[in-house]
Amino acid sequence: MRQALVIALGLAVATAFTLAWAQRPLAPRAIFEARTLPKNDVEKRILEVIDRVGREQRAGNMIVPEEDGRLLRAWTEAVGAKRVVEIGTSVGYSGLWFCLALKGTGGALTTFDIDERRSAMAKANFEAAGVSDIVTQVLGDAHETVKQLKDPIDVLFLDADKTGYLDYLQKLLPLVRPGGVVIAHNMTPNMADPRFVEAITNNPDLETIFLHMDRSGVGVSVKKH
Ligand SMILES: C[S@@+](CC[C@H](N)C(=O)[O-])C[C@H]1O[C@@H](n2cnc3c(N)ncnc32)[C@H](O)[C@@H]1O
Repeated sequence: MRQALVIALGLAVATAFTLAWAQRPLAPRAIFEARTLPKNDVEKRILEVIDRVGREQRAGNMIVPEEDGRLLRAWTEAVGAKRVVEIGTSVGYSGLWFCLALKGTGGALTTFDIDERRSAMAKANFEAAGVSDIVTQVLGDAHETVKQLKDPIDVLFLDADKTGYLDYLQKLLPLVRPGGVVIAHNMTPNMADPRFVEAITNNPDLETIFLHMDRSGVGVSVKKH
């Protein structure tokens, strides 16, 4: 008798719980579509240029999607980066996302590109966004020009010639400080150089994760302490 009562009570509780769970309010998909909100006039100005460059200069200039720009900004803020090095400036779109973080952290960006036309457009975009004071542009073949870097790097972003990533990694990983990150763009099977993927996944000094793999593919390798 007592056993039957316990079972009945258990069933009642389970049913009530199931009903309550089924009736819980669902979060509408739209509320997850977060956007970057400016917290001051400096950010507002940068975001306006980001928006314009994204709309008007995307075609033909191979710039990262907005969601990847936001990811670059977030990692830069998270590691409190003072020194960001970018290989592949293009027209400065990803560089502007870095600057959004660097204006807050008090850091600076050094960005490399081989293309004169795109570098000139980037210069104008950095000026329009009011970030020229924290950006150094280096024109030329980055496989050569990165040799001038000597200071520790907090964030290294690779977004130039895909078959060159391994060379950039070999030259610059020794400068990345412990706790710093190497972020590699276009880490999808059809874009990534397998030798590079091997190098960032088989190095015990690195913790590598891959994000946005259903889209552009971003590798984030944290250099361990
Ligand atoms: C994918 S785009 C960079 C996009 C940029 N990061 C953005 O999202 O705004 C690649 C850039 O790498 C540059 N590039 C390719 N090979 C290079 C090299 N050997 N040295 C320097 N820059 C190079 C190209 O000129 C091009 O502007």
